[in-house]
Amino acid sequence: MDIIQRLGAIRVMLDRAIPGFLPESTGPAHRLLEAMRYSTSGGKRIRGFITIQAAAAFGMETDQVLPAAVAMELMHAASLIHDDMPCIDDSPTRRGVSSCHMQFDEHTALLAGDALIIKAFELLAQIKDSPARPEAVVRVIGEFAQATGATGLIGGEAADIEGERQPVNEEMLSFIHINKTAKLIVAAARTGAILAGADEDALGILTEYAHHLGLLFQITDDILDATATEAQLGKPVGADAAAQKMTYPALMGVEGARRRADEIGQMAVVAAEKLPDGSDVWIPLVHLVIARQS
Ligand code: IPE
Ligand code: IPE
Ligand code: MG
Ligand code: MG
Ligand code: MG
Repeated sequence: MDIIQRLGAIRVMLDRAIPGFLPESTGPAHRLLEAMRYSTSGGKRIRGFITIQAAAAFGMETDQVLPAAVAMELMHAASLIHDDMPCIDDSPTRRGVSSCHMQFDEHTALLAGDALIIKAFELLAQIKDSPARPEAVVRVIGEFAQATGATGLIGGEAADIEGERQPVNEEMLSFIHINKTAKLIVAAARTGAILAGADEDALGILTEYAHHLGLLFQITDDILDATATEAQLGKPVGADAAAQKMTYPALMGVEGARRRADEIGQMAVVAAEKLPDGSDVWIPLVHLVIARQS
């Protein structure tokens, strides 16, 4: 199976599985519950894929790690709901449809994001039908909190907004990319590997790989914002320039950003060569992200 087939198969599996992890949309809070379902459908499922593949690389079955992979996708979906809100990026579309606050309303979007974040932790805490030791589950939850809270994704989103209309500064740009994007991708990889019982040396290499992959993922997101069409991305384009965001294309132009993406991709490949499934999964994933058109 090539990387596109692997990713496609896991995407279909996650698309089918995710609704089953969410509460039924009934009762007085049904709009909140509908919004949670709405905003967790679609997407490329890269983070869930990484968790499943990291677990597989160290010998854990997909069905055992599935709740953790779903947790990664719920956290990611929550970050997108909040990212699109008028007080953050003010984006009317996402994944080819109206963004959550446009489809529902602002209070529902805010609360759906909050509830998805908390659901993600609930799913991690429920990993029990797995060979993972309880200490591994506790470790994963602690790392996930650090990667997604003020010292991670949320801190990165805060810095992203602070950086608007400021002169582009590489140190701050790097902080933004590491925190808002790379840390969740690192957490997705480490979660699968820790639950599967990977040793510390392997975890270190996987972390280095996922860090570079995460940076690469955000640079290519920024390049696509400057070069792709809305039909391709399912979200507005040109939004970063309009909001005067700190991005690699703003710092060094689109061609400079492409060169930087290639360099960082190469660093990811060097780490991937030392990982189990490197040539089947991790190296092709780097090339897929470099070449991605959506
Ligand atoms: C978009 O992520 C937000 C970034 C961190 C760049 P994705 O491009 O993975 O979004 P979906 O899940 O496929 O919609
Ligand atoms: C968002 O970065 C990363 C998140 C943590 C949500 P962007 O703001 O560039 O993501 P898009 O382009 O809206 O998907
Ligand atoms: Mg943003
Ligand atoms: Mg955005
Ligand atoms: Mg973007």
